[in-house]
Amino acid sequence: MNSYNKNDMDRRDFIKKSTLAASGGLMLTTPLGRMLESPQEDDKHSPSSENELRVLLINGSPHAKGNTYLALSEASKTLEDEGIATEVVHIGVQAVRGCIACNQCHQRSLGRCVFDDDICNRIVEKMGHSDGLIIGSPVYYGQPNGSVLSLVQRMFYCSGDTVRNKPAAGVCVCRRGGATAAFQTLNMPFQMMNMPVVSSQYWNILYGMSEGEASLDREGMQTMRTLAHNMAWLLKKIHAGGNPDYPKREQMQAMNFIR
Ligand SMILES: Cc1cc2nc3c(=O)[nH]c(=O)nc-3n(C[C@H](O)[C@H](O)[C@H](O)COP(=O)(O)O)c2cc1C
Repeated sequence: MNSYNKNDMDRRDFIKKSTLAASGGLMLTTPLGRMLESPQEDDKHSPSSENELRVLLINGSPHAKGNTYLALSEASKTLEDEGIATEVVHIGVQAVRGCIACNQCHQRSLGRCVFDDDICNRIVEKMGHSDGLIIGSPVYYGQPNGSVLSLVQRMFYCSGDTVRNKPAAGVCVCRRGGATAAFQTLNMPFQMMNMPVVSSQYWNILYGMSEGEASLDREGMQTMRTLAHNMAWLLKKIHAGGNPDYPKREQMQAMNFIR
């Protein structure tokens, strides 16, 4: 079984739900938002083949070619050298709305967010076609920036099983401080989503302020390459033989400590 087939169930499920919604099979209205529309067209991963393992890298900075991009590019280049296809997606400068806990995604089993007026569903769709995930963010006041937090909270809340068992890592860039707190925040959802968290030789942190400065952080850039090698290694191990032996899961026991 090739890498495309290995998550076939997840992908078929995701595509079925997306297609149903996009074709008007689901009438989706919310008190505050517009109806779901067709997802935007995917950019192709490079190199592109259905048999390749794929890693999606999200550049959460408003700067398309800033320090976050430099960090992710180093990881991306190393992954490609390892034979893993990559795509770096820039979240852009348009507003990314936060989750309003309307629960439409769960109640209707959409597999995507009911709001379709920003980048969230495009990322969710790309995630459905990817085998691993790296999220990069600049540090703003000791945290990932607001757009990254909004995106991450919505994409994980609505995507459910789409991301399960897919290795993931967070990457932070900062001028001087707060990166470890931001890094911890980025890592929190992976552990709730059954995503194996990929490590490196150090926390995935780079230093730099003006555009391009992070390339001077030799240790940080090396940390990106080590992270990429580790992710490539893990992906190849998971998918060796083409049929991943994923762990068994119990039915979720969700408790709120009251009932
Ligand atoms: C609103 C704002 C808040 C920031 N907060 C911090 C911070 O808490 N700690 C820090 O070291 N750098 C902080 N920075 C600097 C950025 O993290 C740094 O310039 C980073 O390299 C930007 O990455 P980018 O080029 O990918 O956008 C802040 C920058 C902005 C615009």
